[in-house]
Amino acid sequence: MALREIRTFEDPVLRQKCRPVEVVDDRIRMLLDDMAQTMYHEPNGGGLAACQIGILKRAVVIDIGTGLLKLVNPEIVSAKGTQISTEGCLSFPGFWGKVKRPWQVVVRALDENGKERKIRGTGLLAKCLCHEMDHLDGIVFTDKVIEYL
Ligand code: NI
Repeated sequence: MALREIRTFEDPVLRQKCRPVEVVDDRIRMLLDDMAQTMYHEPNGGGLAACQIGILKRAVVIDIGTGLLKLVNPEIVSAKGTQISTEGCLSFPGFWGKVKRPWQVVVRALDENGKERKIRGTGLLAKCLCHEMDHLDGIVFTDKVIEYL
């Protein structure tokens, strides 16, 4: 495993669309491990998308304190309700703002073994899933901030 450099602020890689992963192989598993290590190295790290370390692949890691999720090619299957809560991002250190997100989402993704799974996220997990999946389309939370703190 290796710690990777987190891309920040105006880095153009954060604005690009990530490509789907064709095969979940050892390279992808290594990427996911590096992403997890990089996320855990940061005190406020709850999630990280591959583009944040400069890799334009549809892969994210999330840990909101309930265990590590490694998601490949994640897609939102359904969303309901709304929430407005505070977000930050490892690519925008020092910035916090209120963002509107669905209250609950169901996400379909491949796990690190290439097996399809569905994750239902409510509240904090729904927010994190949406935030990380936005990164895969070049969207960052500052695009959606209603009010900075
Ligand atoms: Ni982020």
